[in-house]
Amino acid sequence: MKQLTTAEVRQTFLEFFKQKGHAILPSASLIPENDPTVLFTTAGMHPLVPYFLGERHPMGKRLASVQKCLRTVDIDNVGDNRHGTFFEMLGNWSLGDYFKEETIQWSYELLVGKEWFDIDPERLFVTVFKGDDDAPRDDESINIWQAQFAVHGIAAEVGEANEDEPAITSQGPRIYPYGKDNNWWGPAGQTGPCGPDTEIYYDTRRPHDSKYGPICHPACDCGRFIEIWNNVFMQYNKRDDGKFEPLAQRNVDTGMGLERMAAMLQGVPTIFDTDLNQKLIKVLKDVYNVAYGKDEDQDRSIRIIIDHIRAATFIIGDPRGVTPSNVGQGYIVRRLIRRAVREAKRLGITTLMSPTVAEAVIEEYQKTYPELEKNAEKILGELKKEEEKFAITIEQGLKKIKELVDEKRKHQSAIRLSERGQISGSAVGLNVISGKEAFDLYQTYGLPPEVIDEELAAYGDTFDKDEFEQELKKHQELSRTASAGAFKGGLADHSEETTKLHTATHLLHQALREVLGDHVAQKGSNITAERLRFDFVHPEKMTPEQIQSVEKIVNDVIARDLPVDCQEMTVQEAKADGAIGLFEDKYGAKVKVYTVHDTQSPKGFYSKEICGGPHVTHTGELRSFKIMKEEAVSSGVRRIKAVVAG
Ligand code: ALA
Repeated sequence: MKQLTTAEVRQTFLEFFKQKGHAILPSASLIPENDPTVLFTTAGMHPLVPYFLGERHPMGKRLASVQKCLRTVDIDNVGDNRHGTFFEMLGNWSLGDYFKEETIQWSYELLVGKEWFDIDPERLFVTVFKGDDDAPRDDESINIWQAQFAVHGIAAEVGEANEDEPAITSQGPRIYPYGKDNNWWGPAGQTGPCGPDTEIYYDTRRPHDSKYGPICHPACDCGRFIEIWNNVFMQYNKRDDGKFEPLAQRNVDTGMGLERMAAMLQGVPTIFDTDLNQKLIKVLKDVYNVAYGKDEDQDRSIRIIIDHIRAATFIIGDPRGVTPSNVGQGYIVRRLIRRAVREAKRLGITTLMSPTVAEAVIEEYQKTYPELEKNAEKILGELKKEEEKFAITIEQGLKKIKELVDEKRKHQSAIRLSERGQISGSAVGLNVISGKEAFDLYQTYGLPPEVIDEELAAYGDTFDKDEFEQELKKHQELSRTASAGAFKGGLADHSEETTKLHTATHLLHQALREVLGDHVAQKGSNITAERLRFDFVHPEKMTPEQIQSVEKIVNDVIARDLPVDCQEMTVQEAKADGAIGLFEDKYGAKVKVYTVHDTQSPKGFYSKEICGGPHVTHTGELRSFKIMKEEAVSSGVRRIKAVVAG
């Protein structure tokens, strides 16, 4: 096995797929554009969804990338040794080009090839789809895997976890079939592209932990087996009626977790022990004298700080960056920063912490993600602001505790008086604050339960811990259910309505520039089937006249039924052509440029914008356009919500 740094793992992966004829895509934004189903990019396939359904990708049919991703479903588990929010996903894709044979062969070659990762094939175990009423067992993949392992003289039997042989041995089964819960990917929503997958696991040969069941097997959660790579075969479309029909275009979508791969190749037990994370952990030691590896509780706090500040740095520093707020992605950044600061307090860090850690993150990642250095000032400024704001909130929380205690005391002494001493003085000091009240303090002021407890102890009081736990569980379940839809997915709704709203967004953007000036630049966009939302730079509230003028311009363009088309070119060519839009500034990468043509305009077009689409072919399809709301998002940024009626 090769000892590779995290940076070398990235390079090796991309070099391998370049040699196999893949175009290398730049990482897309962490904040998906025009996709109401998710808050963040959660997998490398995310920006490619329209292309699985047959749209042509400007860079070709074989693509590979390192994609920055964020998953917040497990945010409450971060702190153990394997959960994180931000991660990088290495992936290769076939858009109707190669299929199972090539991708499995290449996976094997990259993993075990002497000149590549050089992993001992005996350590690899794979899983495949076992088949059900919707789709057959994936025998094709089984056969291909067997042929690969045979090259190294390994008989890769198909089997199941075996009661008689609790410890997996190299003689036992190597290919494990599982159902949809393990070996099926997508669709993210109710319908869309999906298919069986085959997952590759690395056997750490650590002893099985029987807490997770009597027998170990690749998908066991005990940690002996680490999933390192997933190959998805997007060959089905799930329909409205729940049936799975074969897709016209068969795609491959793979994902390898960079951090896990690096941990494995470096022979370290967790993702927090890799070269890259060690450098971040060192900052805490050097600046705040907090050491890692001495105490499990302390390590937990350190992992949370590293993970959360890294995630916040990437979200704020993204080309479509989002700053802390109380809604949507902004709320997640706020939560990440505040959780990290809370852990810092727990470690006894009393001075400003997050910008220091963020500086180290920027330094470590800027070569791969130059946007971090470009936006460094903003990142550090926002973190400082949020951390300071949080300190004030905590102060307010502590004051609130005092108020609650005073109030309860008054109440209790009133009861004592009225019951003429029948309740003894010992009633004071017992659960003076209910678990629900403590939970509200936690929710509103971000006061961790230990802090509430300590503060109450100073008054000789305490709170109902069981009730607090119940409230917490209730809340977690609720937020899990709510976030499952918003975080997991990946498939935007490309219905007719949203297509119209995509085009309406371009028309609006251009009209705003005409009415307000060229300083208007897009800060964010979000489309649902009902409305568009467009955030843009403008220093003040729009006047009713300005809103009317914008509506009129857009409706005139609609009435003239101008043609819309799409061309593929490099970012540089697009800029030279006068296109606006969010550029992910990678030299040479091809992008799509949508143009609303207008022969009466001196430029030859009404609007020209870099965008993934899709769009209508004629503006007339929009019928009419109306602005429903104009409001502030943050200082210098306005938001418009608008609808079309078609
Ligand atoms: N999209 C697949 C995954 O994230 C590759 O596992």
